[in-house]
Amino acid sequence: MAKLILVGAGPGDPELITLKAIKALEKADVILYDALANETLLDHAQPAAVRRFVGKRFGCHALSQQAINDLITEYGQQYEYIVRLKGGDPFVFGRAQEEIDAAVAAGMEVAVIPGISSAFAVPASEMLPLTCRGINESFWVITGTTRSGAVSDDIALAARSTATVVLLMAMSKLETIMDIFIEAGKGETAAAIIQNGTRPDARMVTGKVKDIAFRAQHRGLGNPAVIIIGDVVNLNRALADPAVTGSGAAMAMRNAV
Ligand SMILES: C[S@@+](CC[C@H](N)C(=O)[O-])C[C@H]1O[C@@H](n2cnc3c(N)ncnc32)[C@H](O)[C@@H]1O
Repeated sequence: MAKLILVGAGPGDPELITLKAIKALEKADVILYDALANETLLDHAQPAAVRRFVGKRFGCHALSQQAINDLITEYGQQYEYIVRLKGGDPFVFGRAQEEIDAAVAAGMEVAVIPGISSAFAVPASEMLPLTCRGINESFWVITGTTRSGAVSDDIALAARSTATVVLLMAMSKLETIMDIFIEAGKGETAAAIIQNGTRPDARMVTGKVKDIAFRAQHRGLGNPAVIIIGDVVNLNRALADPAVTGSGAAMAMRNAV
């Protein structure tokens, strides 16, 4: 019976992947991979393995989810070990369930190898903690892109809490989301945006909720990016030079290790 393995590729740095994931890549007959999975990870595959890009790149359209599901089941008829390599963790905004349902309906076995999610690895790589004793007691991870296209109601709920809020896929709604935080009285709360986290071209902009959209636009920040809102962001500024809007602390750390 063919097997589908959903494998977490980690946040971008090709060393931020699990040993189990590498073993799955070494064994794969077919690898279907996304734009956010670092392509150098394919070097772990056997030379004969089929490598199929299914993401969106350089303005080209991504395959539809249905087309990806179909590819999984088609390859499942020809090969035994199909790896679906997904950025971060497959179960964090990864549309994994749709692929699992398609594979199960086609009689395939399914397994998941968890990955290191950008939701926490990207802030950590920039020396930005998501929790700190005495500052906050939770963090929320919310998508900025819902199925309907509307901003999630969870954002307004999170804005009224003391939680650190981590937003994925939210750059296109940055101003609208910051307005929701401002309405909740959080205009002065610290905020950070990290683009291409854990990669050599990582960039970070810090500021406050009231000005982070302007700062990000001024610096030309775009996707993929993680937005972090909360008092913990100030801990990063304590480590880095507050005047530096690049990834100062992380650069210092990277150079140190
Ligand atoms: C479809 S979601 C997938 C998330 C993924 N499953 C995970 O656990 O990281 C894609 C979003 O993740 C975030 N993201 C992924 N990798 C990133 C990176 N290296 N730097 C910044 N943001 C990243 C961005 O918000 C991007 O729009």
